[in-house]
Amino acid sequence: MLILGIESSCDETGVALVATADAPSRVPVLLSHALYSQIEMHQAYGGVVPELASRDHIRRVLPLTDEVMQASGCDLQAVDVVAYTRGPGLAGALLVGAGVACALGAALQRPVLGVHHLEGHLLSPFLSQDPPQFPFVALLVSGGHSQLMQVNAVGDYRLLGETIDDAAGEAFDKSAKLLGLGYPGGPALARLAESGNPAAFKLPRPLLHSGDLDFSFAGLKTAVMTQARKLGEELSARSADLAASTQAAIVDVLVRKSVQALDATGLHRLVVAGGVGANRALREQLNAACQPRGVRVHYPELSLCTDNGAMIALAAAMRLQSGRSQAQWSYAFDVRPRWPLDQLEEELTAR
Ligand code: KG4
Ligand code: ZN
Repeated sequence: MLILGIESSCDETGVALVATADAPSRVPVLLSHALYSQIEMHQAYGGVVPELASRDHIRRVLPLTDEVMQASGCDLQAVDVVAYTRGPGLAGALLVGAGVACALGAALQRPVLGVHHLEGHLLSPFLSQDPPQFPFVALLVSGGHSQLMQVNAVGDYRLLGETIDDAAGEAFDKSAKLLGLGYPGGPALARLAESGNPAAFKLPRPLLHSGDLDFSFAGLKTAVMTQARKLGEELSARSADLAASTQAAIVDVLVRKSVQALDATGLHRLVVAGGVGANRALREQLNAACQPRGVRVHYPELSLCTDNGAMIALAAAMRLQSGRSQAQWSYAFDVRPRWPLDQLEEELTAR
């Protein structure tokens, strides 16, 4: 089966074509994918402007679909299922992807499947050179979410812990803003941190010893703000040190909680997904902490860490292959701007 996947939950329009594998245990194959990032457009505003995001998705989605079909050498008629991100994300942006997917489905007389964006991130390492095997612990760190999950199989997800306030990506983005860096702040802060001293400033590691697997990053942003104010005019000369110290605090908490999650579950495999998973310091320190424990760490390809259509087509293909979901012939669609991943199964079976 050929699955066309459309991602439009935030500021990236992604389209991809994936072929299901011939056995449920095998990984689907990515045939082609195309991405348009709206970063430049939102940069002027210092963050994503939802209405502009929706309008831009409308402009990009069909040309990207053409590009994907051409690159794969397949005809749109060959598509068996049209998948789209149903949530979570920006309501207007999600509606564009859902609307286009259902219109395409109706025009092609093919069924459609709404996909959970975080499930896409979670399964994205299956498209890497070194795909994981179930079960594993997943550290999902994006701009809107920070979660540790136990993943037993496709659709069998147990939430182990999550952020009680800001997400890890948000902590990167907000700290970057305080340091006068552009949007998106994560990659910019990471770049600046390369030339700084991570031990220069003592910043809090919230909930490190809380005894559970939850995170909290809101206090870190306040500590960075206080430190930046204290530095005053000296800030520009010390910004690399402050960036490195901020990154170290975030990474330290993510690594230690991931190790605690591995210990708590007794699992020996860790999967890292979501935009923050592109962070080099995080990758280095997770590898360093996991190797002596005999834990394998799996990451998505760098290009598939942030939002993309490939992970949506893949998640749809894996759900269909495993029999966890069936594509729908009804083209009435809704979107779920807020949609906890651990409510996914009840939602889907209720439909
Ligand atoms: O998964 P994603 O593309 O979108 C969401 O679903 O949220 O994640 C975007 C987040 C942003 O907060 C961005 O600053 C962060 O991932 N990010 C990074 C890096 N690349 C992206 N954070 C730290 N270091 C990076 N290299
Ligand atoms: Zn995402």
